Amino acid sequence: MLDWPLARVCPLSPPPALGVVRDGPPTLVRLPAVAGEEQLAWLITRHEDVKAALKDPRLSADETRPGFPLRIPVPTDDRPSGFLRMDDPEHGRLRRMVAPEFTARRVRMLRPGLQELTDRAADALAAGPQPADLVRDFAAHVSALVIARLLGIPDEHTAFFLEQTRILLTDGDPALSLAAHHRIIAFLDETARAKEKQPGDDLVSRLVTNHVATGELDRADLLGILKLLLIAGHESTATQIAFSALSLLTDDGLRAEVLADGGALLPQFVEESMRFWSIIQDNVVRQATEDVRIGETLVGAGESVMISLLAANHDATVFPRPERLDIHRDASDHLLWGHGAHFCLGASLGRLEVTLALGSLFTTLPTLRLACEVGQLRVREHPVFHSLTELPVVW
Ligand code: HEM
Repeated sequence: MLDWPLARVCPLSPPPALGVVRDGPPTLVRLPAVAGEEQLAWLITRHEDVKAALKDPRLSADETRPGFPLRIPVPTDDRPSGFLRMDDPEHGRLRRMVAPEFTARRVRMLRPGLQELTDRAADALAAGPQPADLVRDFAAHVSALVIARLLGIPDEHTAFFLEQTRILLTDGDPALSLAAHHRIIAFLDETARAKEKQPGDDLVSRLVTNHVATGELDRADLLGILKLLLIAGHESTATQIAFSALSLLTDDGLRAEVLADGGALLPQFVEESMRFWSIIQDNVVRQATEDVRIGETLVGAGESVMISLLAANHDATVFPRPERLDIHRDASDHLLWGHGAHFCLGASLGRLEVTLALGSLFTTLPTLRLACEVGQLRVREHPVFHSLTELPVVW
């Protein structure tokens, strides 16, 4: 059993060490600088406070507000940003245009195609050289193919956007991030124009036919939505697949239990391993539009908050012995999908994707094991995700 994961393999950010502040009221912290600008924010950690903050409309997600605590540098004049960083009513208006693509029913319909895709990815891994890197050769590959399918992007373009999102999300160099942002937008623009000429059975075609053609959705917002889906849907899922696999690779008892009976406990394991690893660490940020009381703390109008899903998911009052990955606990109140208006739109899809990917992986490669010590694994520190740099495996 691994200890509190992020203290072991992941340098914590932001300071001060989250463990110290986890169980207390909001604490003022200095955020790591973005584009040379340092910002202060109230770090919110208790489960109850995090839930309340995520539901509070007075805490704005609008990144165009002066002083908004941006986590990745994208200049204001060049923003199709996607509705993640907008407030209602505009947020809701845009979200409703794509929400039908993510209903439980729609996701159930995608299941056979996804199963085939994860099986093929596992077969490809099995046929490749050893040791393999589970992050690059499987997890990133699966999640990129899924989002490409959804958007109607041909499989052969996945290598391009995999590389660009990697630069955008994990490189940390502002100039390179920005160049990647431009390349992604140009690529999505080209994709949308091709669908306008020749629509297919995919999300982009439906958006351009049902909403762009009618004038409800302008091009900047269309590109913002597509970029959001591409990024939100890809890196998060890939990172989660890798960390969940790591749990199974480091605990034989857990692995046997989870994979027994054709993986009956896999869905439960996925949810608990999401809580346990809490891969989204310091990207859930908001700014108060007026004075807001959170617990015993007054967050003043204009001040920023950073909402720690990691701390909330390790709040011992809700998840006793939080540092234990325990598939028999009720993890359903974990907050890694967010909460409130911005609750992850892709939650049903992401959940299914991680479950199918792990099932295919461990069924196809029953002898899969780590090819290094856990202590040798490195975590790439980044404002959005803390992902594993690589996960070497043999079988
Ligand atoms: C929003 C987590 C997979 C699409 C969010 C938020 C979280 C999250 C925490 C809210 C952020 C905030 O409030 O600031 C995750 C995790 C995933 C995952 C942990 C995988 C394990 C996906 C997938 C898609 C997706 C597969 C779609 C293909 C979105 C979108 C939003 C969002 C569109 C914005 C929702 C809004 O602002 O209304 N996600 N996500 N996510 N996610 Fe996910």
